[in-house]
Amino acid sequence: MKKDTLIVEGLAGKKSLNGEVRINGAKNAALKVMAASVLFDGPMKLMNAPHTEDTNRVAELITILGGSVVIDKKEITIDASSIDSTDLDPDLARSMRSSVLLTGPMLGRYGKVKFPVPGGCVIGARPIDLFISAYEKLGAEVKLESSKGGDQYAITAKKLKGAEIFFNLQTVTGTETIMMAAVLAEGKTVLRNCAMEPEITSLAEFLNSCGAKIHGAGTTTITIGGLGSGGLLKAKHAYETIPDRVETGSFLLLGVLCADNLKITHCNPEHIEVLISHLRESGANIIVTKDTIELRDNAKLKNSSLKPFNIRTHEYPGFSTDLQAPMTVFLTQVGADEINPNSGARGESIVFETIYEGRFKYVSNLEKLGAQLTVMNPREILVKGGASLKAPEPGEELEAYDIRAGFATIMAALVAKGTSVIKNAYFIDRGYENIEGRLAALGADVRRVHADEQPEIVI
Ligand code: EPU
Repeated sequence: MKKDTLIVEGLAGKKSLNGEVRINGAKNAALKVMAASVLFDGPMKLMNAPHTEDTNRVAELITILGGSVVIDKKEITIDASSIDSTDLDPDLARSMRSSVLLTGPMLGRYGKVKFPVPGGCVIGARPIDLFISAYEKLGAEVKLESSKGGDQYAITAKKLKGAEIFFNLQTVTGTETIMMAAVLAEGKTVLRNCAMEPEITSLAEFLNSCGAKIHGAGTTTITIGGLGSGGLLKAKHAYETIPDRVETGSFLLLGVLCADNLKITHCNPEHIEVLISHLRESGANIIVTKDTIELRDNAKLKNSSLKPFNIRTHEYPGFSTDLQAPMTVFLTQVGADEINPNSGARGESIVFETIYEGRFKYVSNLEKLGAQLTVMNPREILVKGGASLKAPEPGEELEAYDIRAGFATIMAALVAKGTSVIKNAYFIDRGYENIEGRLAALGADVRRVHADEQPEIVI
């Protein structure tokens, strides 16, 4: 893991960012389509793909299996037809939960796959029990094997057979992975209580345009007419990666706090409707077109006149857990004397996390910056608005704990006065491409210190 550091010069509460930011293709859409390459009879291509550490790692996993991956600017071409192994590289697979996406297409096409039992990750336990029970319902045999490097699943199926599967809770990658496995199963599969994220719909639409028979993606019931393991898909055209809704929401939250005139382009505002609705009710003036979001003369809007409110994370179309940390930063800045319409409390907001049990680690960063918040329990934070943030003392560093916590920490450091150091920029790179360059283009002073230059950090 590269241990780069980011140095952030705070804007000391000034709303001085200006300009345009172009939203990249969604990492969480590209990763799924990359895994789907295994369902194709030859090369397939993604356009508008983001350059993130996570997409690089899936590329590496496919390459180690024997497939060919060519990344050229925003295009990724994958030919999985040369795959000659069905064992996912254990270290690589363990380091990224989304590697489990490959198991569905592998099982559908080759009738077997081996992969490590995923450990917990920094945001929570992240089990895969729902994947495993779905594979069993599709007729696969699941064995748990012990090896020197750790336990691994060995899953085999002479033929996957269509089945009725009910997910006990809505899982995004679970829905996608089992949907992909079912494309090459024999007979009809019905998935119920499916997640409804736009990335799932986009994946299904692309697979359908290449020969799959998937109905209902984007609703809680998805039906897949299996093509059998020989019914490989044909890449009739390239996949156009949909805009990253979490990136869009991240820049919008940052913009309301720190920008005067900001235009977010190449996005899909419909995918962050709940965020826009909360921000407008809080007092922000947000101008939306089909594919842009704009703040104009936003510096006139004092953060102290924004109203506090409560959020509760939820599956799509509810408030995304991936925007929970940036939203907490936002809520530290709303008016201390403004009334929270949800509770009647003055200057106070509640953030309630329903998806993960460990997504509050970043709070320690915000406390170091002087934010006033209390973690009530592992799911709930009480945030006091109106905090004036200040960079930690020299020598005291902030840390990116996961992708979104990392962005939230940059946001807080930008709001603050003084120079902050954020360790482990790698986590931010897993989801946001060239974050320092894109913020610099808006007028922020965010510099990267590469791991091998670390001793020279002076602040
Ligand atoms: N869950 C289980 N068992 C399972 C599967 C899931 O208990 O077999 C639980 C999880 O532990 C979690 C909940 O179900 O508590 C929802 O998890 P889900 O499976 O939906 O999450 P995911 O598919 O692993 C994707 C995104 C995450 C995002 C979540 C929730 C990708 C690659 N990842 O994860 O994105 O937070 O959905 O929307 O699509 C990120 O981009 O920073 C990120 C973490």
